[in-house]
Amino acid sequence: MEFITRNPRMQELLDQAGKLARSEHTVLLQGESGTGKERLADYIHRHSHRANGPFVKVDCATVPDNLWESELFGYAKGAFTGANREGKLGKFDLAAGGTIFLDEIGEVPLPIQAKLLRVLQDKTFDPVGAVETRRADSRVIAATNRELGTLKNTGQFREDLYYRLNVLQLTLPPLRERKEDIELLTQEMLTRQMERGVLPPNLMAEAIAALLLYDWPGNIRELENALKRALLLAGPYGPIDRRHLPPEVAGCLVEASPPVPFKRYIKSAELHLIRWALSACHNDRTRAAKFLGLSRAALYKKLKQYPEFATNSSGE
Ligand SMILES: Nc1ncnc2c1ncn2[C@@H]1O[C@H](COP(=O)(O)OP(=O)(O)OP(=O)(O)O)[C@@H](O)[C@H]1O
Ligand SMILES: [Mg+2]
Repeated sequence: MEFITRNPRMQELLDQAGKLARSEHTVLLQGESGTGKERLADYIHRHSHRANGPFVKVDCATVPDNLWESELFGYAKGAFTGANREGKLGKFDLAAGGTIFLDEIGEVPLPIQAKLLRVLQDKTFDPVGAVETRRADSRVIAATNRELGTLKNTGQFREDLYYRLNVLQLTLPPLRERKEDIELLTQEMLTRQMERGVLPPNLMAEAIAALLLYDWPGNIRELENALKRALLLAGPYGPIDRRHLPPEVAGCLVEASPPVPFKRYIKSAELHLIRWALSACHNDRTRAAKFLGLSRAALYKKLKQYPEFATNSSGE
């Protein structure tokens, strides 16, 4: 699983993530829903010394209150009636030698927060009904789309755990603040939906413009769903046009037009289209010109207007 981005802020974040990955410290990932927190956790795991060990996810939003302890720490033989006779391994056992990913950590109830703090501080935990304390040998990565600071201030999140987690914190920017990633992500996600070796359908300029203008409150996950839907509606040979996009996405074309100065709008659409064509054609400028229905000379003239293409001479 690649981590796709061409946004400078994201690239810096990935660079930091790579450095943090090599330490054993707990990392907290923050970001709106669908920004790629789980993907980043996976990236950190794969770049850590524990890459060959397991990556175990705990979805903290779905654990029933009475099962928290046995889920995380397991239980000993015959710990309680109805329990499996052999006992059960908890997630901290399963993650031994690897990484445990605590997703939506803001949902963990207060009594369990105290136990998590102990694991983080002393690296020990007690399975339910066990006599012996066990050592935790896993790296912890936590994620949240809620403001942990606010939860702390309202008493829903322990202060000590908050400060413990907040030391190494990475915040994923929402997709609307890194729109240059939309093109790459779209291509990757469409390709992933196709059978091996089959090229995804083309997108009409209008559809591209709508994808770039829309604000994506559900971030990459919403983009992914919109593209799956578009592919179903347009069929494998496409092309995908605005009618195949969800109404709220297609609709922003109309809404955006009046307040946007015409020339600036056209310029930015042009730049996006050129980037799109170059990346679709692997930077081969001759093919990109064909892709856009321009002559080579016309494309070169346009490229000269944008400093970002000046240094990159590949494909010439
Ligand atoms: N940089 C990326 N490159 C490619 N795909 C990505 C990237 N970031 C996220 N995705 C994809 O977008 C979707 C959402 O990502 P992910 O599940 O990591 O987000 P999340 O922040 O954990 O979301 P949620 O809050 O909904 O759980 C996934 O299908 C993931 O594979
Ligand atoms: Mg997630």
